[in-house]
Amino acid sequence: MAVIYNKEKNLFTLQTKNTTYQMKADQLGYLLHLYYGKKVDQDMDYLLTYADRGFSGNPAEMADNRTYSLDTLPQEYPVLGTGDNRSTALVIRNADYSECCDLRYVSHEIIKGKYKLDGLPAVYANDKEAETLSIILKDNSNGAQVKLLYGILEEEDIITRSAIITNSGQENLVIEKAASACLDFLAGDYELIHFHGRHTMERNMERIPVSHTEIKVESRRGASSHQHNPGVILAEHNTTEDYGNCYGMLFVYSGNFMCESGKDQFDQTRLVMGLQSEQFHYRLKHGQSLIVPETILSFSDKGFSGLSLKYHDCIRRHICRGKYANSPRPVLLNSWEAAYFDFNGNTIINLAKEAADLGIDLVVMDDGWFGNRDSDNSGLGDWIVNEQKLGCSLNELVKCVNKQGVKFGIWIEPEMVSEDSNLYREHPDFVLQIPGRQPIRSRNQLVLDFSREEVRENIFKQICSVLDQANIEYIKWDMNRNLTELYSNKNFPGCVAYNYVLGVYDFLEKLLNRYPGLLIEGCCGGGGRFDAGMLYYTPQIWCSDNTDAIDRLKIQYGTSFFYPVSTSGSHVSAVPNHQTGRITSLHTRGVVAMSGIFGYELDPGKLSDEEKEETRQQIKTYKKYAGLIQSGDYYRLSDPFKDIYTAWENISKDGTQVILSIVINEIHGNMPVYYVKLKGLKANTIYKDIESDICYQGTALMEAGLPIRCGLGEYNSYQIILNAEK
Ligand code: GLA
Repeated sequence: MAVIYNKEKNLFTLQTKNTTYQMKADQLGYLLHLYYGKKVDQDMDYLLTYADRGFSGNPAEMADNRTYSLDTLPQEYPVLGTGDNRSTALVIRNADYSECCDLRYVSHEIIKGKYKLDGLPAVYANDKEAETLSIILKDNSNGAQVKLLYGILEEEDIITRSAIITNSGQENLVIEKAASACLDFLAGDYELIHFHGRHTMERNMERIPVSHTEIKVESRRGASSHQHNPGVILAEHNTTEDYGNCYGMLFVYSGNFMCESGKDQFDQTRLVMGLQSEQFHYRLKHGQSLIVPETILSFSDKGFSGLSLKYHDCIRRHICRGKYANSPRPVLLNSWEAAYFDFNGNTIINLAKEAADLGIDLVVMDDGWFGNRDSDNSGLGDWIVNEQKLGCSLNELVKCVNKQGVKFGIWIEPEMVSEDSNLYREHPDFVLQIPGRQPIRSRNQLVLDFSREEVRENIFKQICSVLDQANIEYIKWDMNRNLTELYSNKNFPGCVAYNYVLGVYDFLEKLLNRYPGLLIEGCCGGGGRFDAGMLYYTPQIWCSDNTDAIDRLKIQYGTSFFYPVSTSGSHVSAVPNHQTGRITSLHTRGVVAMSGIFGYELDPGKLSDEEKEETRQQIKTYKKYAGLIQSGDYYRLSDPFKDIYTAWENISKDGTQVILSIVINEIHGNMPVYYVKLKGLKANTIYKDIESDICYQGTALMEAGLPIRCGLGEYNSYQIILNAEK
């Protein structure tokens, strides 16, 4: 049983394989947080202490007892208006403009299986894999009712949290801030690890102390963003990759988010994850609800690697869905860096021929096939095949591609419109724009109001009519700008950002219902919407528009803390690299791209015969190990931001097969020898290097490691395959 209820104390214990989470509704009905961490078998309410803290407020029921204050007690769902002056999980504005809510325990329910969230992505699990605890809290004065949801995946060491806020009162309420999870820590020195970035340089890891000033990791861009990822780690001071305690919070959402962390006056740490509160004013009339997207929590006492393994398994098994969730993905060739907008049907057919010759499974016709779209200044919104440009119908084109034994995929950007398009000329009111003001353009395009059903329907019909024309087995769903004007012609402005994201999810869900076999790859100028929300619909996401192998080492390193390699689109592109001008060998580009969903982003027609042969071998190697790469465990073996080499390891779940990949980032004269230590092997098992036949004991590889071969020249790389001897 994952959820244990102690009736006498009104105390809830959530047990997973290695962790315990505990809370209790106290004598006033406040839900106090007691503990989250390594598994314990004990009521932790002895940790609570009460003292007169002068300036901290006391609830009226306590009369002249000044030792009870919600400004100091650890809570599950702190609310503004109860005397807690720290950062809270919920702010409600009442009809009289007062910002106050006082939530008390009403009831709870424990059920088998994992709760679902209407219209939102969420971890899924069957009745054997999960249990749900729901706790109802209510403010009897304004009628606000909050259902706190906890999903416990015992075997996975995963606890999910969400909240449904309902107005059961008569007067309108406005939700000004809403989080799905709060973690309070009574003591300890923590550091926050977050992943910041920019277009073409996403998810750089940064580790900063949690201090008495509040830190916010957030997006106000309408997408989860290139700039910040909605996944953070709270680590004890001395936690490293392999040792120490750390907690993860991953928001399952693709829009504006906010994670706040800080220490209070008594050095207690609070971490809150939820919706961005700026430009958020969510109106609830009587009977209406707001569902706060889910946060996935996990704890590891084995450092970041332990935590990453938990998230990787959870995302692969309980977020990604559909035919491709757990099966090898097609190796693809994308036309973007091969031809940009300058292509016709023959270009694509030639790419397909080259693909067939090399062993590539799928060709993607990227941007430029529709409407009047020969540059990124026009055409978005007109999802009509430009047969004149292609020189044939889509069906004819796809038939020619399929004839080569190659699958066909297509690029779309459904959320956007160009002013120079028929859609915009006919429906200028379809965009997010503030009346009477000039629109803010980005990539010379505007954003369609996906919070409106009729707008989504128009685009849905257009996209379906394209997909119905031919055998299209893959789409790349792009989003090439952020939201700047949260103003809708039909929706209240404070709801637009949230309703927009729900609109995107609704569209994706409908698309998958209609085309269940379709593989959708997410994209947002590369990795600008790389989050667990999108992964519920698109089991892979184009990791970055930066295809430079050396930059990718850092981008993929940061991405790997939460997201499994099976979610990360990673391609070999031409050199000099189009984003950096850097030259790396085809071999190194292949090694780096293999730490993700492998593919190519170049014109194979421009490769020499030797390069083509090398490419064939690369693809063979990838396909041989694709199952292991996608479903095995992944370990970071070095830090590309600090170390002279970048190393990582893919190991099968049963520990019998290992791929060690190493790239030398820097080369210097008279180099010292570096050693790479492997992880997760079976200690007493002998592993054989399949190329050299040299045998090593698992313990030796993990404790002493292998010397790194640097060789001469920049950015060398190699892979070692180790098989366990029977
Ligand atoms: C974005 C994507 C690219 C490509 C272009 C097309 O930038 O990330 O891969 O599809 O759009 O316009």
